[in-house]
Amino acid sequence: MSILLSNGTEIPIEMHKIRIVQKVRLSPARERLQAIEEAGYNTFLLRSRDIFLDMLTDSGTNAMTDFQQAAMMHADDAYAGSESFYRLKDAVSEVFGLEYILPVHQGRAAEHLLAKTFVKPGHVVPMNYHFTTTRAHFELCGGTVLELYTDEALNTQSTALFKGNIDLDRLREALEKHGAQNVSFVRMEATTNLLGGQPFSLANLKAIKAMIEPLGIFLVVDGSLISENAHFIRQRESGYENASIKDIIREIAAVADLVYLSGRKSCSVRGGMIATNRKDLYEAIRPWLPVYEGFFTYGGMSSREIEAMAVGMREMTEPDVASSAADAIKYFVNRCIEEGIPVVTPPGGLACHLDAMRFIPHIPQTQYPAGALGAAVYIASGIRGMERGSVSMDRDREGNDVPSDLELLRLAVPRRIFTMSHYEYAVDRLKWLYAHRDMVGGLEFFEEPPVLRFFAGRMQPLGGWGPALAKKFEEDFGPAC
Ligand code: F0G
Repeated sequence: MSILLSNGTEIPIEMHKIRIVQKVRLSPARERLQAIEEAGYNTFLLRSRDIFLDMLTDSGTNAMTDFQQAAMMHADDAYAGSESFYRLKDAVSEVFGLEYILPVHQGRAAEHLLAKTFVKPGHVVPMNYHFTTTRAHFELCGGTVLELYTDEALNTQSTALFKGNIDLDRLREALEKHGAQNVSFVRMEATTNLLGGQPFSLANLKAIKAMIEPLGIFLVVDGSLISENAHFIRQRESGYENASIKDIIREIAAVADLVYLSGRKSCSVRGGMIATNRKDLYEAIRPWLPVYEGFFTYGGMSSREIEAMAVGMREMTEPDVASSAADAIKYFVNRCIEEGIPVVTPPGGLACHLDAMRFIPHIPQTQYPAGALGAAVYIASGIRGMERGSVSMDRDREGNDVPSDLELLRLAVPRRIFTMSHYEYAVDRLKWLYAHRDMVGGLEFFEEPPVLRFFAGRMQPLGGWGPALAKKFEEDFGPAC
């Protein structure tokens, strides 16, 4: 929720109290430099103990509620037929209106099963935008991802309300070009992650369905961030001002033929699921569940997490839960704009995204500006962000580097974790870094894995700019900061 102060400022306000806390440490710049050098300038390889504010992701890092924790105590660990599964099934039915459910250990496991079942060599999978694990699974099965976003989607300084929409003309052309028989399905990602957490509209979703249904193509929604997407629909799409978050989620699920999700985001647990009302789709996927994940009633999740997911799923439909990250992000993004720091607009539902191509425009994409910015932000603040640019793109089949459409450093906002003073600290250090942006240089790989290289690849700073930046920081703030 946001609240208006008497001076006219809008601030995010926490609709919860914090009763369990976890200590963090802010190590001095000198130690941070050492940590990032050991991590090969890859923030994924930092140790948690060296991080002050962990804004790598909102995945599995949200604060759980007392009710979620309590539910974990009555988990039924039966290998088969667990009551915990049936409680999750009831929650899926209540929240999504979907009858058939396949639990999986996390979102990419759902993608694996979908790819294994429906993506055949030579197929295309049209979507609003890829996610890293989605693309990897679909390509490993011989498919090609078609990203059919609108012109506005890649504009990082936009006021467009639904940058997660598909361009319907591009979709029509793609269907004509490839033929319905070569389309695995159409995938729409709620609050599109790599575009900066940008939502789609229900009008767009319905138009897609109307176009593909007569061709016998089914519609898949990646609902990992579905409650945030529903929150934006309620705020931004005419006709939905008075709808509840639950109504909107149910409507999205009713338009889709199948919903899958990573439970690590909106549901604030560690797990995932596939759900549908289409028995044919369910039965096609079902045989693979015990092969790759686990028995039908746990699918690789612990019973405790299944219980917590049932509760988290219901809680994500509460307006102040659905808006908790989005309102904090709005504040964080707007404060950055006030200080002249280049960020993606409008604010989305996942993170404050720094636009590396505007932040450090002197670094070419071949030298990974978003990766360099991630390392620089860590040195300057102890804040860990995630590179969402060319490092996150794997090489093409010929082994060439693929420049990313956008070079973003994502500062994710996990739900109910940070407070206003954390965001103010972040803005202050980003402002310092922006003033010294000329000191930041590029990166080059010296260890590069062949798949999802951003997780484990190691890089070095071109021209050794890291130590110089840490030294300048220490001069300005003193050795203890
Ligand atoms: N789909 C979306 C939209 C995601 O954001 C993610 C994960 C996945 C699928 C895969 O789910 O991690 O549970 O296997 N996003 C995380 C992130 C990793 O940090 O944004 P998973």
